[in-house]
Amino acid sequence: MTTATQVDIKLNKGAQDGFVRSEAPFPAFMGGQGSGKTAGGVIKCWMYTIDNPGSRGVWTEPVAAMFQESCLPTLRTFFGEYEGAFWQEAGKGGPNHRIEFSNGCVWMLKAAETPERLVGFEVAWALMNEAGSTEHGSQEQAYLNLVGRLRQKGFRHWLGVATTPSGRNWLWKEWVESPTAKETGHVLFPGSTFENEENLPDGYIERMSKAYVPGTPMYRERVLGEFVQMSGLVVPGFTDKMIDPWPDELFTHKIAGVDFGSQSPTTIIEAATNSSRHIWLREWLYKRECDDETFVKACRDAMDDGVTVFVCDPSGKDRIEWMCRQGIPAFKAESNKIERRVKAWTSPIAEGRLTVDRDSGFLIRELTGLVWADRRGRDMETDKFSQNSPDHAFDGGAYALMSLELVAPRGYKLPELVINV
Ligand SMILES: Nc1ncnc2c1ncn2[C@@H]1O[C@H](COP(=O)(O)OP(=O)(O)OP(=O)(O)O)[C@@H](O)[C@H]1O
Ligand SMILES: [Mg+2]
Repeated sequence: MTTATQVDIKLNKGAQDGFVRSEAPFPAFMGGQGSGKTAGGVIKCWMYTIDNPGSRGVWTEPVAAMFQESCLPTLRTFFGEYEGAFWQEAGKGGPNHRIEFSNGCVWMLKAAETPERLVGFEVAWALMNEAGSTEHGSQEQAYLNLVGRLRQKGFRHWLGVATTPSGRNWLWKEWVESPTAKETGHVLFPGSTFENEENLPDGYIERMSKAYVPGTPMYRERVLGEFVQMSGLVVPGFTDKMIDPWPDELFTHKIAGVDFGSQSPTTIIEAATNSSRHIWLREWLYKRECDDETFVKACRDAMDDGVTVFVCDPSGKDRIEWMCRQGIPAFKAESNKIERRVKAWTSPIAEGRLTVDRDSGFLIRELTGLVWADRRGRDMETDKFSQNSPDHAFDGGAYALMSLELVAPRGYKLPELVINV
């Protein structure tokens, strides 16, 4: 005979309610801070435990110390009156830390930081709390190992996730981007902190809003619970405000940068500067498997429009010589070191003197999407771009920008243009 427990809980409308009641094999509650994720996780596991005597599950936190800060206090908040009667904590501080229930159920409490230990047992369910946290590394391996543990016979199997989103990481790929997410039962319940307003201390949301500022990526992630690509962006300072139609103004200097591709696109990006050193950029060419004729024509068009030199990827020595033979003034760029290329973009952006032509869609997409490679969620590498994000227009632009800054270095006053009519 199982003990009947009656607890009066009102689930928050939205993500918490959807997540708790979901019978999907892979439900995920991804929400803002304090949106009720851990509470949702505890209530979900509790309900399953009541309905499924004898079932076993595993609850993970990023690191072991967090059980005392997250899972257990929440369990006590909602079901504390049954502690000692229906459930008890056992094995505290050891490898077999767990919650035992008098109906034969067990919740094993395990840290995701040691995925190699998430093997050798059989459970009906798993709940990964703060699965997006990268404290001690990405939890993707823990997730994969846990999927293989869901095989306790006679029970419905599921693996749930409760976490604040953190960029376009493995969770985003698994629950949002993957074309098979629906088929495999990966169901996302996104929720904002506002959904739990009633249960939060007065002033909590206001304080968070002040700290994170509505509209910023941080606010969208931490309060609204949205997936925002934040930390990994190579050019985070580039915003919509820096995109405008190409102006009808007199430029003092126009050059172009060239990145050679074969399978990948060949790009020609113009950088033009005016007398106040504001820089405008636009694309003349962005083409995969670009033939010579198309390339030469694009260069000529740019020259007809006032581009004086083509600053090229320094590793394309043969192509540069070939361009010169075609009558195109081509030079090696000063450097193709990654820091130099990145700085060529970020310095003028930080100084607020860079604008990109609205019709240069490839260039805009690259600038807004280029991300650093990540080592399976550990700290970012800033010496390599992610393999998945294209950087051809970015590079073309960088070569042009480096040279433009040499022509008009900081503090250099351009001669005034006198036009005699
Ligand atoms: N349905 C509910 N009824 C009553 N209180 C709730 C409910 N859901 C959450 N709470 C309370 O709201 C507070 C925040 O909830 P919880 O800790 O689950 O949020 P969280 O999203 O996990 O927060 P964090 O981002 O800090 O991990 C807690 O005090 C919790 O007890
Ligand atoms: Mg929590």
